[in-house]
Amino acid sequence: MSKITIIGAGNVGATCADVIVSRELADEVVLLDIKEGISEGKAMDIMQTAALREFNTRLTGVTNDYSATEKSDIVVITSGIPRKPGMSREDLIGTNANIVKSVTENILKYSPDAILVMISNPMDTMTYLTIKTGNLPKNKVIGMGGTLDSSRFKYYLSKALNVPASEIQGFVIGGHGDTTMIPLIRFATYNGIPVSELLSQEQIDKVVADTMVGGATLTKLLGTSAWYAPGAACASLVESVIRDQKRVLPCCVALDGEYEQKDIALGVPVVLGKNGWEKIVDYKLNDAEQALFNKSAEAVRNMNGVLSEMKIV
Ligand code: LAC
Repeated sequence: MSKITIIGAGNVGATCADVIVSRELADEVVLLDIKEGISEGKAMDIMQTAALREFNTRLTGVTNDYSATEKSDIVVITSGIPRKPGMSREDLIGTNANIVKSVTENILKYSPDAILVMISNPMDTMTYLTIKTGNLPKNKVIGMGGTLDSSRFKYYLSKALNVPASEIQGFVIGGHGDTTMIPLIRFATYNGIPVSELLSQEQIDKVVADTMVGGATLTKLLGTSAWYAPGAACASLVESVIRDQKRVLPCCVALDGEYEQKDIALGVPVVLGKNGWEKIVDYKLNDAEQALFNKSAEAVRNMNGVLSEMKIV
């Protein structure tokens, strides 16, 4: 029996639940929200598609009853407020840090061995907070940003190249912030051909810029933060863990000297399997890439410092 819990039945949580159940990634999925009725309603709506989409996973919605999440293998945390137009992910820290901390405590009461997947923003700092306050083995806490940012990177590359996004390989590492993420052009390929051989410098610069503000562009258009791509990115990551696929996806994880950083959680390519993130893949950054990574780490470290100012870690 496998069980996945998703905390937060907002747009991202519900979309994530929808993709997870439609792909039958677990026997049982629980969607929990603090707002009365919302998770029950969304779960029922999704379950009413079971006959149409032919899935057999059971999704249950609950209002703040953490006992229903007992013995989850994976818990996805989407709690907190989303961005509004003009806000950065970092602007959310004051509200979301306290929410994420108490959610994590509640989860661990019922599922002490669960692997935690962090989506709440600012995601790098929320991942760091969870590792620190949950006192968890570092491999069990995975921040989702890089998988989403890489999917956006591949989308913009596919548009520039006019080819299917699924035929593109590419990673975005570093922080999950408009100015901290690093789309790694040097490792981006179309079926093995470096994209730098296929696109002009001007086109590449545009792809990189569009990727970095991919979330902000959507927030402006939608009036709130995006959900289809974040939900689907989370489901891909969850699939690799629960099916022990050992896929390499960029995720935010605790660094202990890898990529020249420590005492921080930041996006790097990792192998995802049944033990959580199992290995960091070393892409051997060149000096320019490493300098960008260090700069990203500095910005995220400053943000993490707010947690101690708030007396939360
Ligand atoms: C985004 C939010 C979920 O990038 O961080 O869309």
